[in-house]
Amino acid sequence: MKTLINISLAVLAAFMIPGLDASAVSIVPKPQQIRETRSQVLIPEKFAIYGADASLKDLAKTYIESLDKQYPAGTEKLETGFSRIVSDFEFPVMKAGGSLNKSFVRLSLNPELAKEEYTMQVTVSGVDIAGGSTVGVWWGLQTFTQIMLQAAPFQGGRMTSGISIQDKPHFAYRGAMLDCCRHFFSVEEVKKFIDILALHKLNIFHWHLTEDQGWRIEIKKYPLLTEVGSVRKETLVGHYRDSKEYDGKPYGGYYTQKEIKEIVDYATARQITVIPEIEMPGHAVAALASYPWLGCKGKDYEVRTTWGISTEVFCLGKETTYDFLKNVLDEVCDLFPGEYIHIGGDEAPSSEWKQCPHCQEIMKREGFTDERQLQGYLIRQIEPYLNAKGKKIIGWDEILDGGVTKTATIMSWRGPKGGIKAAKQGNHVVMSPNSYFYLDYYQTADPQANKEPLGIGGYVSLEKAYSFDPYAQLTEEEKQYITGVQANTWAEYIPNMDHVQHMDLPRFAALSEVGWSEDGEKCYEEFFVRVKNSLLPAYQYFGYIYAPYAFDGIK
Ligand code: ACM
Ligand code: ZN
Repeated sequence: MKTLINISLAVLAAFMIPGLDASAVSIVPKPQQIRETRSQVLIPEKFAIYGADASLKDLAKTYIESLDKQYPAGTEKLETGFSRIVSDFEFPVMKAGGSLNKSFVRLSLNPELAKEEYTMQVTVSGVDIAGGSTVGVWWGLQTFTQIMLQAAPFQGGRMTSGISIQDKPHFAYRGAMLDCCRHFFSVEEVKKFIDILALHKLNIFHWHLTEDQGWRIEIKKYPLLTEVGSVRKETLVGHYRDSKEYDGKPYGGYYTQKEIKEIVDYATARQITVIPEIEMPGHAVAALASYPWLGCKGKDYEVRTTWGISTEVFCLGKETTYDFLKNVLDEVCDLFPGEYIHIGGDEAPSSEWKQCPHCQEIMKREGFTDERQLQGYLIRQIEPYLNAKGKKIIGWDEILDGGVTKTATIMSWRGPKGGIKAAKQGNHVVMSPNSYFYLDYYQTADPQANKEPLGIGGYVSLEKAYSFDPYAQLTEEEKQYITGVQANTWAEYIPNMDHVQHMDLPRFAALSEVGWSEDGEKCYEEFFVRVKNSLLPAYQYFGYIYAPYAFDGIK
């Protein structure tokens, strides 16, 4: 048998071994169709990946780079208090750019497939991945990673079963937001976050860039936004609910436009679109501290050092505020090639507008009876401005309250109800309900007993996140308005990237499955076995930090 294998390896690099049992392959998110054949396929210890055109050759290179192992095998206790568990798994040595007939993995495009769709055949003669575009091929490669991680070592290579897959996502929008304002994450850390999205076949990185506690994006026309607005003088220690203690240390950071371009390029190469969020009219204190004329009272602002909602918001009665926002958006649009710009819109108290002569003048001129209408007025200035630049807006569900056009996409965060209302009135919706997809919430019912790090509150277990039904309470007609789903990692209580990973993994697995495989039929136990077989080995290969609770059977 050994001689036979050696000969076959030299000639074929893959073959059938009758009688060798392979276990069923687990993939998360669950593919639309997966069929295992009776053949056994040996993946050789070294092989080339062939790309049928230049874009696929580049994709193969990016894929191989993405498999670089960063950490040695073993368990390491980190300075942040988290542990990193790294498996001793080694991928075969892969080379991009082989010829068609000498390559074990072959990438091609098939115009008959949808953009994100792929097919994949793992047979004794190699692995063929075809996609409707490079995006589809990329998702196919992510599936290949999971297949590899489950393949057993055999004669220097890895043994898997023959597999045939046809797959495409249910929702076009599968996103994750990272709040880089309450705490700042470096360029390398943001890239890691993007890598984690790719592994889960999430295609949108919603980048929260402006806040009360820090403005994080360089705007050339307004340098004080980063000179002043990116630094707070200190930060609250402990929980906002009961602490009055501050650390006394300045805290800051921002991304230069060059760094932003680098991150956008990095995401684009990984088939992920970046949606920047520029908050308006609330969560704006860092901007007000930089340019006090942006606020109603016009002075005495300071980058916020504690959490919660501020009453200090943009003044919507001064033309200069609109000019400022449009100028900022000009630079933002130039940096982000995607079609969506997120304009925030959440948690904007109207108390200052009530006192402000400028805001009251606009109210009178426009015949408004409620200050909330000022927020609708703001959107009516900003949305056409962005539309004229070829962009569409997304906003948090509060934008519904001030009256919104049909063309705005609503991000439902205060539970699913805002999204349901929006879909019923014909607005597109991204479902991002705090009750299922707020990953800053605790992961177990008893965070203290389970030694969870300090969190904002709430409780979203892996099972709860998995149970989300984006279509609940909607008719067939209304369902078409649900564009997708998103999870949010707000960072008030998440000071470092190890902690971000602890909060997101494995709950991204649930987000991924809800966004990709939504089919109305769910079995948590079956899903969980697939997570354990496919994504857990990936977390341990890449050295990602993940929460142990679900794997330890703790709810
Ligand atoms: C939000 O959580 N304030 C959108
Ligand atoms: Zn005002």
